[in-house]
This record gives sequence, C-alpha cells and structure tokens, in this order.
Amino acid sequence: MGVKIVETSLRDGHQSLFATRMTTEEVVKMAKILDNAGYYAMEVWGGATFDSAMRFLNEDPWDRLREVRSVCKKTKLQMLFRGQNILGYRHYSDDVVDMFCKKSIENGIDIIRVFDALNDLRNLKKAVESTKKYGGECQIALSYTTSPVHTIEYYTKLAKEVEMLGADSICIKDMAGVLLPNDAKELITSIKKNTKLPIELHSHSTAGVCELTYMAAIEAGCDIIDTCLSPLSGGTAQPSTQAFNTVLKGTKYDPNLNLDAIHECEPIMDKVKTKYLENGLLNPKALSVNPNILKYQVPGGMLSNLMNQLKAQNAMDKYDEVLKEIPRVRKDMGYPPLVTPLSQMVGTQSVLNVLMGERYKMVVNEIKDYLHGKYGKFPAPVDENIKKKIIGDDEVITVRPADLLKPEFESLKEKYKDIARSDEDVLSLALFESVASEFLMKKYDMIKDEEAKKDDEIISFNLIF
Ligand code: CO
Repeated sequence: MGVKIVETSLRDGHQSLFATRMTTEEVVKMAKILDNAGYYAMEVWGGATFDSAMRFLNEDPWDRLREVRSVCKKTKLQMLFRGQNILGYRHYSDDVVDMFCKKSIENGIDIIRVFDALNDLRNLKKAVESTKKYGGECQIALSYTTSPVHTIEYYTKLAKEVEMLGADSICIKDMAGVLLPNDAKELITSIKKNTKLPIELHSHSTAGVCELTYMAAIEAGCDIIDTCLSPLSGGTAQPSTQAFNTVLKGTKYDPNLNLDAIHECEPIMDKVKTKYLENGLLNPKALSVNPNILKYQVPGGMLSNLMNQLKAQNAMDKYDEVLKEIPRVRKDMGYPPLVTPLSQMVGTQSVLNVLMGERYKMVVNEIKDYLHGKYGKFPAPVDENIKKKIIGDDEVITVRPADLLKPEFESLKEKYKDIARSDEDVLSLALFESVASEFLMKKYDMIKDEEAKKDDEIISFNLIF
C-alpha cells in the first residue's frame, strides 16, 4: 500500500493561482482523463468554486458537479466545506447544513472535507453527522497555524476529539504553507500514536518548503497527500503530482499512478494555464516562492489582498507597518488561524488600525461578532482591554453559535419561490443571495443579460483555504 494521492488542480490549484476561474468545460474535459490516473480522490468542488461559477462564469455550480460525476466513474470526488458556514460567510442553521450535505452527495460528491477556522468542533458536528447520514465519507481538517497555543499537544488532543466525533480521516490543513518538515514529522507521529484514523496532508508551496515537508510527513506515516498536476503546481498551489509520483516510484510509498492518463492531460492543462497567464488572471508572482510567509506567518492570498486594499487607499507606503500589525491583531484576538473568514477579518482590521492612526478606533462588524463569541471559541484568551474597548461589557455567548439559529430552509424556500426551481437553487440563493438570484434569473430567462443589475456585493477579498 503506497501513499495515496488526492489531485487538487481542479479546485485548489486554480483557486490558488487564478482566482478560481477554470470553467466547467475545462474542468470536465480534464476530469474525464484524470479519472483513469488512479488517484485516491479528486478535489473538484466546494471552496470558492461555488461562488465563482455563478459570480464570474455565469455557470451553475450544481451542473458542474453533475457533469464531472458523469465522466468520473472510477475516482472519488471530494469537496471542501466550511462547517456551519457551508460555502458562505455566515453561520447557517442545522437544517440548511444538512440539506447542503444531502444535495452534495446526491449530485455526486463522495468525500466532504470539513473545517472550521477556529477548530471549534461544535461548528463541524452537524456537517459530520449529515455527511455520514447520507452515505458520504467525512474528513475533518485541522486548520494548522503556529502560535503559543497551537502546539503538537493541542493538535493531538484535537485529533482525538475528531476521531470521537466520527470522522473517517483527518487532514492537516496548512493553508498558508508554513508547516516545516520537522514539525510535520512530530505532528504526524503524535497523531498516529493517538488515533487510528488515516492522515492526509494539505499544504501549499508558497514558502518553498512544502515538498520537504511532504517527504518528512510521508516518512512519518502520512497516508494521503494533496498534489496538483504539474502545470498548476508550485507557487501558491500544491506541489507537483508528477514529481511525487517519480520520487516515490519503486519505494514502499509508490502511489502507482497511471502516467498515460497524466501525460494525456498535461498539454490540456498547460493550455488552460497559458490562457489565464495571457488574460492576466494568473499573476506570475503567484508562481514564485515567497519567504515573507514564514516570517510573518501570513498566507500568500492575504498578502496580495493587503496590497490591493492599500493601493485602493493610496497607502502602499504603509505596507510594512500593516504587515507587522497583522500578528499583533491576531494575538489580541486569541491567535485565530488565518483562514477564511478570519484571514479577511484580521487583515482588514490591521489595515484599519494602521490607516486610522489609532488601534481599534474603527472596528469591522465581523470582529465585533467574533468578540461576542458568534464564530465560536477563541483558541486562546482574547486581550481583555481591547475586547472592552470594542464591545464594552456585552455578554459573550458560550453555546454553540448555531444553537441560537432557528430552522430556516423552509422559509428560504418560500422566500425564493419565484426564482428557485429546485432545492439546489434554494441553497445557491441561501449562500449567495444577490449573485445567485441574478444568475438564476438569467438561467431561467426571467431577465436578459444586459438587464442584469450590477453586482452589489463584490468580494474584495482573496479567499484562503
Ligand atoms: Co489549500
């Protein structure tokens, strides 16, 4: 039994390199060939693909899933799912989470990878339960970061809780690419010793250390690695599938991939990559190594987002100051891992702190909600003085945030009855109301393209998964 490989180019690959713009036609064409490659699974859905399909490509994400499923007969299909946030930006009630798991599995997903930015397992409980209920395989991902509280002991304890919660496997999710080889070895050895679950490693080549980290992880017993087919590998994406297949060939870790299928897909993916390089969506910078990530522990997507925000404010001269402010805000907030949505919240607050000339003079609403406990448990205690400055003596909730939400699927169905023609449509509308309603009205010929109103909830953030 060699190391298993999950191919991520059709989800994280293009999300990390060119803002998730690969079209369904491109995805389906390559998925069909790669179905013969012998992967353990292919990650093809979830994350930002759902939003991006409707917002930028005028495509139905559910159609993409069904089409990929129809051409993939051998390989498991995997998606990324943000626990109680599903694929959106707020907490949804349990019945919406349940319906989303049900419909994802019904339409073709085999493995749902769930994670919570705060590693608050209460935010994953429902997604795990529903995935299992509808016959899916459920993987829980631990959001990896470094801080005084995010130690090997912390992650080992979390892994044991994940096993108790009923996960089928554990993923160490290093969205920033900051996991170092020795830490990976120690972490995987410790989790292996304390749980029986298969372990998968997901990291990014951003900092230039990822290949070494994967190798150390494999030698420590890591069962599955996430890689990208070479045209989309490296830089802010995952390491190369072909490189790992070559390096591990003939060893006890041999992933045994079918190179014919891979070679058939390479030129097609290369052409797709060239298209996005030429149209400017793929910034060559995303393909190179960025050592600042290890210094500031800030994910690559956050750095480019930060630059965009500062450019818009004509304040690029404050870049270094903001970079230094990010770890301070993170400390004030109890060291949340910098993954969506916390990466955007901490990043924006850091920009405000520097531009206003006074820390927390202006505070983003999401940070206020966070301090009220609405996102879940703080990884470490928050700074009491700063909390007092922002929310005074307000009560902080300690129950599972979704316990405060009433069932909402039926009322959403009623609300959208004029637009939605299926439960899938209702879910699209629930997650991205204005984008989905405009998209669906066009799809069902209720409005013409040119009548479509200008999008009013433009996302100015890079999503980091
Ligand atoms: Co990722």
